[in-house]
Amino acid sequence: MISLNFSKRLRQWNSAENVRTMPWKGEKDPYRIWLSEIILQQTRVEQGWAYYEKFISAYPTVQSLAKAKEKEIFKLWEGLGYYNRCRNLIATAKKITREYDGRFPASYNDVLELPGVGTYTASAIVSFAFGLPYAVVDGNVQRVLARYFGISADFYSAAGKKLYQSLAQSLLDKKDPGTFNQAIMDFGAVICKPRNPLCFTCIQAKNCQAFRQQWVDLLPIKAKPAVRKIRWFYYFIANTKDGKYWIRRRKEKDIWENLFEFILWETGKLMPQRQIEESMFVREHFGKSGFHILHFSDVLKQTLTHQTIYGRFIHISLNKQRKQLKNYQLVPAGELSRYPFPVLITNYLKKFNQEP
Ligand code: ADE
Repeated sequence: MISLNFSKRLRQWNSAENVRTMPWKGEKDPYRIWLSEIILQQTRVEQGWAYYEKFISAYPTVQSLAKAKEKEIFKLWEGLGYYNRCRNLIATAKKITREYDGRFPASYNDVLELPGVGTYTASAIVSFAFGLPYAVVDGNVQRVLARYFGISADFYSAAGKKLYQSLAQSLLDKKDPGTFNQAIMDFGAVICKPRNPLCFTCIQAKNCQAFRQQWVDLLPIKAKPAVRKIRWFYYFIANTKDGKYWIRRRKEKDIWENLFEFILWETGKLMPQRQIEESMFVREHFGKSGFHILHFSDVLKQTLTHQTIYGRFIHISLNKQRKQLKNYQLVPAGELSRYPFPVLITNYLKKFNQEP
């Protein structure tokens, strides 16, 4: 339902409000589309624009590019950097001339075989030129999806890539994939921008998880590979009717060994509030009823050398007395300050206690 809404609204935005113009937009010639996409790999649209026009006027067809002197092509490429892209450009033009008689291949798998063409570029070419149903996922698309659906999966992880790709594929308008692909990229570039997105005039805001939960600045998550592990800690600050709190000592070989903490649920991802409230974890620890969730904190962040910890605190008051929670102990409120907690927790408590 939500996804139906997303695609419908995207179409609405695209036909009523999208005024983004680019020289390759609406283009059907696969050669021109391919050229624009290769130029735009690692290059901003504003910078790529002039190069695209120079290339098209110097080499209007794939054959003319294949026949040109390499030195001239490199000269025209000057300033764009990443010269491997230029080498691949030349190799592809020659391959198409040699193996396909100068006609651009019209299947996804054949396009994917061309030098310098990955899944994103292949999907862009076959959807724009031939109307084939392949969804593009670039940085713009990933940001839009991460925010709208509240996804914290890391784009650089194998699992994250798969997830964004299959989500985009499921949203794709199969009747007009090229228009959908261009629209979602434009939407990311114009509305759902990396910084200062236009949420207050955004047609999707009502159903956007990031907007609703104030996660816009947190998403998308792009952890540079093998730098820092991202962890999500949900702490339930659970107090009993007689003013005691459940805490435990961290005994595992892990961060914060021997420090104390509240009831921890580590989920590995950002979770919507509703999903937490209705989770098995809550049911197993606090029962079906007999408790009140009083407050969800904002997300807090602590950066360690090899890990980033995102923490959220959930205050919960327990009406029914539980005999025991495995590994946890009950401590009166006034004695909490005697226990060593990680900085993430002490900072949170300090801030929380200062708030009116
Ligand atoms: N970046 C790469 N290709 C693009 C396209 N077709 N539209 C917008 N941004 C892009």
